[in-house]
Amino acid sequence: MIIKNSSYAISAVREEQYPTDNLPEIALSGRSNVGKSSLINTLLGRKNLARTSGQPGKTQTLNFYLVNDDFYLVDVPGYGYARVSQKKRQQFGEMIQDYLETRANLQGLIILIDGRHDPTKDDIAMYNYALYLNLPILVVCTKIDKIKKNQRNQVLSALSHKLDLKHDNVEVLTFSSVQKLHVKEVWQWIEQNL
Ligand code: GTP
Ligand code: MG
Repeated sequence: MIIKNSSYAISAVREEQYPTDNLPEIALSGRSNVGKSSLINTLLGRKNLARTSGQPGKTQTLNFYLVNDDFYLVDVPGYGYARVSQKKRQQFGEMIQDYLETRANLQGLIILIDGRHDPTKDDIAMYNYALYLNLPILVVCTKIDKIKKNQRNQVLSALSHKLDLKHDNVEVLTFSSVQKLHVKEVWQWIEQNL
């Protein structure tokens, strides 16, 4: 993918606020602090287009980033952040569910899982939910720079014991925003699904 331009387009918490130019969308989901906003920046070669933070819970709205005037990457608020109130969590859940279940423009979902840890209950629930929605899914194991090179394959095999990854619509990659590892492969998956 040659990136000619990228820009922040709009933030939305409900349907009326989604973009209306009818372009395809690829969404990114995963627990708070897993590296969604960083992955967007890395893909687009931008330092701080999507705001990142060491503090979980930074992204609280659906943030649409327009790429090449052609499609959107959609940063979805992270789940599983304990310090968010019960009420807020429910609102987040509904916002994410509404988007994922009703958005016709949505062409695929990238689910980010922290490569340093076993998937959480929320990760497993999100993955199974995406399977149920029957979307093309790319599972990305993030922060893989923190894992020794000779142990990275084990991360994927351990993951396959926790998630049923053998589906035609599912692909899996390791990824690092720090080392810019597998950026090309993520783009290939996106291009295939646009
Ligand atoms: P929320 O918006 O809170 O849901 O978080 P997020 O998933 O968007 O995470 P974000 O991209 O803000 O990254 C969270 C923290 O992880 C930041 O301190 C990043 O610098 C760090 N981080 C992100 N990706 C990587 C990576 O590939 N490797 C390492 N080592 N750190 C990373
Ligand atoms: Mg974020």
